Formats: sequence, C-alpha cells, structure tokens
Amino acid sequence: KVANRVFSGIQPTGVPHLGNYLGAIENWVKLQDEYSSILYSIVDLHSITVPQDSGKLRQNILEMTASLLACGINPEQSVLFQQSKVSEHTELAWILSCLTSMPRLRHLPQWKMKSSGQKEEGSLGLFTYPVLQSADILLYKSTHVPVGEDQMQHLELTQDVARIFNNHYGHLFPIPRAILSETKKIKSLRNPIAKMSKSDTQTLATVSITDSPEDILLKFRKAVTDFTSEVTYDPETRPGVSNLVTVHAAVTGLTVEEVVHQSKGLDTARYKYVVAETVIEKFTPIKNEIERLKAEKGFLEQVLNCGAEKAKELAGPIYHEIRKLVGF
Ligand code: ADP
Ligand code: NA
Repeated sequence: KVANRVFSGIQPTGVPHLGNYLGAIENWVKLQDEYSSILYSIVDLHSITVPQDSGKLRQNILEMTASLLACGINPEQSVLFQQSKVSEHTELAWILSCLTSMPRLRHLPQWKMKSSGQKEEGSLGLFTYPVLQSADILLYKSTHVPVGEDQMQHLELTQDVARIFNNHYGHLFPIPRAILSETKKIKSLRNPIAKMSKSDTQTLATVSITDSPEDILLKFRKAVTDFTSEVTYDPETRPGVSNLVTVHAAVTGLTVEEVVHQSKGLDTARYKYVVAETVIEKFTPIKNEIERLKAEKGFLEQVLNCGAEKAKELAGPIYHEIRKLVGF
C-alpha cells in the first residue's frame, strides 16, 4: 500500500445513482486496497449550497451511509464521516477564502452552470464552495484525490490555494494529486448527451442502484437510441447506444471493445434488455444490503460517530499547526 493519504467526498443525495457508483464509489472501494490512509466524507455542508429540507437531508445522510457501506466501503479501512461533524472544515475554509481571489472562483464551471438560470446570482455559499472543498482536502494533508474529470478545475484550485498558503505562511501542505477515474461519464438514459444526474427531473432518465428489477428493465427499454439497430461504440454520432455500451462495460468489468464484440448481432432492442439484466444482476445484492442497513439506524449513527472521532483525531493536530502559522 502507498503511504499517502486519500480524501474524497460525496454529497448526501440519498441512494446513489448508476453514475455515482460506476464513476466514483466503485473506485473508492478499490482504493482501499491500494492506500494506507483514506477519508471518505459525506459532505453535508456542500449540499446546503442549494435549498434542502432538513428532515430529508438527515434521512439522505443515513441513506448515503448505508449505501456506501453496502457498496463495500469498509469503516475499518476508511474513515467514513459526516463533514459538518468536524468543525475545522469550515474554520480552514475561512482562512483559505482569505487567500483566494474572487475572479479565480468566478471562472469555475460549476459556478457558471449552477448560478445561471437563478434569478439572483446564486448564494455566497454556492460561489465559495470550491474553497470549502480545498479545505476538506488540505485539512488532512491529503496527497491524492479521486475525482471525475468535471472536478479537475476544483482540484487545480486546491493546488493553487495550497501553494499560496505555503508561500505565505510556510510550507505545510503537500500539493494533492488527482486519481482520475477510468470510467467514462454515464449519460442520462433519456438525453444521452447530458450526464446522468440526481438532479435530472426527467422521468426514467436516472437509474438508482436500489431501483426494482422492473424499473431497471423499463428505464433501459425506454432508453433513447437511434435508427440504426446494430451495437457499435461511437459517442459522437451514436451517444445513446454508446452510453449503453459504457454502462455494460463498466458493470461487467470488460473493455468497450470486448463488449461491442460480444454484442455483435444483437439489435438495440435486445441489447437494452441484455444491459438491463447485467445491471440488475450487479445491483441486486447491493440493493438488499442497503435495505437491510437502512433499518439499522442506530448502527449507521454509530458508524458516523466513530468516523467523526477518527477524522477529528487526524484534523486536530494539523489544524493546530495551521493556527500557529497563521498567528492565532
Ligand atoms: P450528481 O452530479 O448526480 O449531483 P455528485 O455531484 O454528488 O452527483 O457526484 C458524486 C460523484 O459521482 C462525483 O465523483 C462525480 O464525479 C460522480 N458522478 C456523478 N454523476 C456521474 C455520472 N453521470 N457518470 C460518472 N460519474 C458521475
Ligand atoms: Na456534481
């Protein structure tokens, strides 16, 4: 195992969707065998950058916890914790925000995307949450961060902020590096040029990993493809079928080429059924485990409390060093 430290976060959106699992969580599970120190955070502070119902948020935090455990995050190997339970995240975010310029944040794509269409410009929290992300990572002197390509610019901000801090106050933070996920973005089943997302309001577009077999079959049956019936991989001209191939490859662990070769001779209607079956087979045991764990609220809370204790133990001494350097 590499003697480095991994940090990553996921928003408490309840049960993850297929994109979250294949694009992030599956990789998180693998990293547990490769790195000696890992923190995975359920980043509730990030989720309130858009309006949340408090009862629903509380429930979503527990559902995400159950889901991560069921997917194979092992609290003996990884520190699994709720971000807001470790107050140093927000304290460090303040210090880092004083080292970050407004134009630097204004150019980040997330801000442009999420704030556009809102009547006001969007909240201050939405504007500065990449700084909170930087604090999440640096608070533990993390060296590696598994990210999707869409998050690369945020990691670059973190690297810049770490350098600025080091130059200004004295060398403290390692410059964290990306662990890029091999899995391609999973696209919406109804609009295969957009990514599959929890916030997609279209029906049948997003597959939750706890969907019933009937729902999974229906969603894949209704997946948007095109007028060619053959199975080929060409994301530019055939985004719909290519997305099915991406899902198929990711779920089975085969390469895109292998999947295409194996599926030669199937028409797309039949192919949708094949892909749905592989998804159902992969997620049925995970779904059952999530349902079992969701009923064990006390256990889930205990896992989170334990994780918060461990995270605080790691953050405390580092934040103490930070304070001294800043002059507090
Ligand atoms: P969402 O975009 O649905 O709100 P998050 O932003 O909470 O999900 O993403 C959590 C993790 O899942 C991130 O690492 C992100 O890169 C990954 N992820 C989200 N959607 C997809 C997708 N469609 N395909 C692959 N990975 C994804
Ligand atoms: Na996202």
